[in-house]
Amino acid sequence: MKPDAQCFASRRMRFVESMPEDSVAVFFSAPQQTRNSDVHYRYRQDSDFYYLSGFAEEEAALALGPGLQRFYLRPRERNREIWEGRRMGLEEAQSQLGLGETRDINEFWKEFPELLKNRSQLIYAFGLDEKRDGRVFAAARALLQRARGGDSGPGTIATPDLILHEMRLVKEAAEVQLLQEAAAITAAGHLALMQRARPGMYEYELEAILLYEFRRQQAEEGYPSIVASGPNACILHHIRNDRQLQNNELVLVDAGAERNFLTADVTRTWPSSERFTPEQRDVYELTLAAQEAAIVATQVGATIDSVHDCAVRILCRGLLDMGALQGSLDEALEKKSYRSFYMHRTGHWLGSDVHDAGLYHLRGKPRPLAAGMVCTVEPGLYFSPDEPASPPSLRGIGVRIEDDVLVGVGKPLVLTAAIPKDVAEIERIRLTATAALR
Ligand code: GLY
Ligand code: MN
Ligand code: MN
Repeated sequence: MKPDAQCFASRRMRFVESMPEDSVAVFFSAPQQTRNSDVHYRYRQDSDFYYLSGFAEEEAALALGPGLQRFYLRPRERNREIWEGRRMGLEEAQSQLGLGETRDINEFWKEFPELLKNRSQLIYAFGLDEKRDGRVFAAARALLQRARGGDSGPGTIATPDLILHEMRLVKEAAEVQLLQEAAAITAAGHLALMQRARPGMYEYELEAILLYEFRRQQAEEGYPSIVASGPNACILHHIRNDRQLQNNELVLVDAGAERNFLTADVTRTWPSSERFTPEQRDVYELTLAAQEAAIVATQVGATIDSVHDCAVRILCRGLLDMGALQGSLDEALEKKSYRSFYMHRTGHWLGSDVHDAGLYHLRGKPRPLAAGMVCTVEPGLYFSPDEPASPPSLRGIGVRIEDDVLVGVGKPLVLTAAIPKDVAEIERIRLTATAALR
């Protein structure tokens, strides 16, 4: 379900209400990215721009302010449409998007000084596009230098992040619904892999199955899928996906479907053969215990840091019991000796971007979780063959378990709960899957 025009309009209204008086905000669509020569990557709108406009085409700009709403976009043009397909165009945008006045994007830079005139502040996401920054700053400076003539330009340029990303951090009902759709599609992808993978297949074949499940349900990858077999599971962002699965090893899959600008982010780890080996199982059960406790800790008032500390404490205790760490729990925590095996954080905000917008700290302190925020909970343990501290019996084992959690006034809601992670359930699926192939 796509949010309707009213939903985007209400976001714009809330944004404008938070703007200082006499300010103007401008937002730009994402630039097209060249793959090579004159070929582009498939276009993906900037998340901030989409959040406010609901417009997914390239070459657009939005100006907002108290009493101002103006949308610039590309007019329809037969010659370009022959190659690139139909565009919305000015008339349709005017009638469908409710974005106020619509104008030709080719007029934008000519009209830009007029938008800035006599505004004390410009709200603009500087620092993302050097060339565009140059044009924006030059226009602002030119106006300031003409102040003697009576008009002036903005003395301050501020990022919209502090308003907009705070809005994005707390999800609306329509966003939660899209995240649930993304989670359901992601579940289909992960389950298809658990059911169909077998030793001898290549990681890229598994990746193709994921992509098929996502695309056939009108979704795409929210980030490049990680399909990591055997020791590749210890490479945190393994996206080459080029290794052949062997018997009796683990397969770590980190993949999430993006549905209408909201993405899931899920990791599951399961055996390439029917069962976990005892060592794999010990590491898996420990990671799962840490993850389950961390999910319970993902409550209103907790922080991303306190959830991380909860997971770390359990992982450390288990690592000491296994003999992978020496000394006391306090020492392990103090010296962070666990970092040889657990080197990333336990969670991040999730939404339109897989690593979503929003501050993690406020005035130097971890920010408390509030109802409506969505984050991942994703502890892992990685015993890389290249890590001297890895115990010989565990070398090559990498496990991560990642779910997407909606912080609620009551218990946290695990949006991705339908994706199996219990050992018995995984082994049941793997047994059926491999038996069917015999
Ligand atoms: N898939 C990237 C992450 O888990 O943060
Ligand atoms: Mn993640
Ligand atoms: Mn992930």
